[in-house]
This record gives sequence, C-alpha cells and structure tokens, in this order.
Amino acid sequence: MSAKPTVGVDDVAAYVPKLYLDMEEFAKRRGLSVDHIKKGIGMLEMAVPDTYEDAATMAANAALELLKKNDLKPSQIGRIYVGTESMDDKSKPIASKVVGMLEEVFGQGSFSHVDGVDHVFACIGATYALENTLDWIRSGRNRGKVGVVIATDIAKYDLGSDGEYTQGAGAVAMLVKEEPRLVLLEEAVGTCTKNERDFFKPLERENPVVDGKYSIGVYLDAMKCAYLNFLKDFLKIVKLEPNEAPTDKADYLAFHLPFPEMATQAAAYLFIHDWRDLPRWKEIEKETGPLPPRKNYTVEELLTEEYRQFRKRFTSSTQFKEVYSKKVYPSTIAGRRIGNSYTASLYFSLLSILETQRAHDLVGKRVGFASYGSGCSAKVFSGVFAEEYKQVSQSIRLFEKLDTRKRISFDDYVRLHESKPGSGDSILQPQNEYAIVKVGRGETDFGFRYYKYV
Ligand code: CAA
Repeated sequence: MSAKPTVGVDDVAAYVPKLYLDMEEFAKRRGLSVDHIKKGIGMLEMAVPDTYEDAATMAANAALELLKKNDLKPSQIGRIYVGTESMDDKSKPIASKVVGMLEEVFGQGSFSHVDGVDHVFACIGATYALENTLDWIRSGRNRGKVGVVIATDIAKYDLGSDGEYTQGAGAVAMLVKEEPRLVLLEEAVGTCTKNERDFFKPLERENPVVDGKYSIGVYLDAMKCAYLNFLKDFLKIVKLEPNEAPTDKADYLAFHLPFPEMATQAAAYLFIHDWRDLPRWKEIEKETGPLPPRKNYTVEELLTEEYRQFRKRFTSSTQFKEVYSKKVYPSTIAGRRIGNSYTASLYFSLLSILETQRAHDLVGKRVGFASYGSGCSAKVFSGVFAEEYKQVSQSIRLFEKLDTRKRISFDDYVRLHESKPGSGDSILQPQNEYAIVKVGRGETDFGFRYYKYV
C-alpha cells in the first residue's frame, strides 16, 4: 500500500471589513475603563461590517482572492466547505452563495460539480470542515482535486452587553491540498464534545444568549479534554525527553480567541497541566505559592476566586511570561485589531504568526492549534511550516489590510449594528468586491439576498 499523502494548507486569503472602531472611543462612550478593554480583554480595534456585506460576501471575497492568486480553475476544485455560525438562512448554506458569487466571475455553471456545504458548530465549524477535507484528500476520494475551506463570521452581541466589546468580523479562505506549501497538518487530532449552554443562538433571538464567565470555564474544560485526547496520538509521533512537556514540542500555539486575552487564560491552564509534575514547577511555585488542590475537576472549580488568583500569579511568573511571549503572543496580535470572528479567529491566529514572525525562519517549526466552539466542542491538532511557507505567505498582507481600513465613529458603529444587511445607507461604496445588492420582497423571493461583484 502506498504511503498516505502529506496534506495541509497550501495558501490562504483573508478578508476583513474595511471599517473599524477604535476601542478607546468605544470604552469612553460606554463608560468603561480603557485599560479593562485594551489590557484586560485585549481589544484595540473592532472590525465592523458595512451594510452591503454579510458572512457570504466576506467568504466569497476571500475565496476569490485565493483562487485568483493561485490561478486556480474551477475544474481543479472538488469542494467548497464553509464553517460559519452567521448564516442568514435555516436551509440554504453559505457555500451555495459562494458558488453563485464565484460563477459570476468564472462563468455560469463553472462550479456546478463541487461539493458545497456549511459546517455549523459555533466557532469550531471551520475546523470540522478542514479536518473533513484533509481526510477526503488522505483517502484519495478527491481524485486529484483540491479543496477550499472558508471560515467566515460576524460576531455580534446585544448593544450594551459584556460580549459587545469582543465583537469583530472576518473570513479566511484556505486552499487544502497534498504537499502543501504553507503548513503541513499532522494526523494527531484530539476532540471533545459535550452538551453545554455556555453560548447559544435560539432561533427566536438575533444575537446569542451568553453566560460569559461560565463560558470561559467551559472553554478551558473542553480544551483540556481535547488536549488529553490529542496527546494519545501526538505522543506516538514525538518522543519526550526527560523533563520535557508536550507543549515544549510546539514553537507556537494558536488559540480560538473569543477575545484576545483568552489566550492568556487558555495558555495558563494548559501550561499548569503540562508543567506541574516537572522539576521546573518547584521554581514556579517559589513565585506563585502552591497550586490550589482540585477536588472534582468541575468547570465551577476553574472559576473560583482561589483558582483565578493562582492563575493570575502564574501568568505573572518569569517562566510563563517568557514562554507566552515567544509561543503565544504572536498569534494574538491580529485578533487584537479584528475582534472575535468566531470560526475565522483561529485561522487569523495562524496568519498573525506568519505575518509577525517574518524575521524568523519558520521552516519545520510546529504550531499547536486549539479550536473551540460553544455548545460545545474543542479540537486540538498540530501543523508544521513547510519549505515554501515564506514565499507563499508574502501575499497574505493581513496587516496591510488592517492598516488601510477606515475608522468610524461610535455613532456610526451603533447605526451599522442596528442596520439589517442589504438595507442600504452604507458608509463606503463597495468596489471590486462582492456585495449584497438587493433583498427580495416578493412572494417567491422574500428575504432572498441577491449578490453581485461590483
Ligand atoms: N484595568 C486592567 N485590567 C482590568 C481592569 C482595568 N481597569 N478591569 C478589569 N480588568 C481585567 C480583569 O482583571 C480580567 O483579567 P484577569 O482575567 O487576568 O483577571 C480581565 O480584565 C477581564 O475581566 P472581565 O471581568 O471583564 O472579564 P472576564 O474575563 O471574566 O470575561 C466575558 C469577559 C464575560 C468573557 C465577556 O467578554 C463576554 O461575555 N464575552 C462573550 C462570551 C465569550 O467571549 N466567552 C468566551 C468563551 S466562549 C467562546 O470561546 C465562543 C465564542 O467565541 C463566543
């Protein structure tokens, strides 16, 4: 039997809305502490979609850029899978809208052969779509074709709620194929799935119902469960030296970021678990005092003041700060200027590493990925940067896109927040991009969104 192909992400294209709100202005207008929002939550800027865009236009814009820069023909593509929780329809997937929008440029019917479907599980849907597409290629069922996986979301909460200051939006389209030039995804994957009520969107509500603090505990608990399952596979591919922890084998860690400082909490929880039985822990305890005993390993235990205070001391320890600044912080830099983008946030974390670490040679360096979707499910997996990563990543230009956005006022932000997509009255005029041009009001097209490349 022939060896399984090496598969992963060959190239990526990112789309971020061209408008942003400065979080200092947000904090002042909401009467909140600027330090709380910028340091405690980690939000510097919030990406804000204009009225002509939605998760489908963002997905199509990212996909079009990906296809164009790789000179891909529709016949080379076998599937377009979307991960999202921002769908506007209970039946029709965003994948079919993307096909329609791409066909406007590539020709009517040019994508009719592709598999197209959405994967929905809060912020982890795109990771399921990616894993599924990697397995499709590994199995040979792709018959020489490549896959396009798109993560696209608009994170929107009620005005005035705690979640409001974590909002954001964006899309990342990934070209998934054999012998990838960007990042090779290893086969070790650990999953955890539970029935939780930390964050959900009942059909009768536009915005999510959130138990904010509890959701942090559920995130941490599910992530650890996925990590333990990941180690069962991972420790078959790597050999730990004495006194080495599994996370020592990763050069970078990329987390799902519901808000940027979540990475500090998640990294702390992971490193406490990984380091507490190693000789280095003695040094750490000199700075932090002893780790509070865990009794039942419940989510509630993670949220106690005693545990929170210990975590705070741990994140101030010399060893944590050193490892965090090298391995974790680089992946959070983009998220601080975008905000939560649900399914796309983990993949913006990957782009953040690529764009902020240009001074380093990343060939062969390993990234540990931690994906989370409320409700809930977590997946931990790993990847290694490929030989040609540097050349490929030149064209991502995420920070250039962030730098050229238009800053809007708090009042404009509130108006856009309350506007329905396709309602007109946009801040910018769409240019060289997909946009919603009409929302049907007839008997047979009521609520149907019409899109056009303008
Ligand atoms: N100066 C500096 N720091 C300050 C400060 C000030 N004046 N005031 C507060 N802070 C710090 C706090 O000390 C705290 O830091 P530590 O964690 O180190 O103690 C930090 O700011 C945040 O404090 P909060 O009490 O505001 O926030 P929190 O961390 O308890 O939670 C939240 C905020 C409840 C999560 C809120 O943002 C929220 O409801 N968000 C929406 C839901 C969410 O993001 N959940 C996350 C997990 S669910 C998920 O991952 C899926 C998803 O995408 C939604």
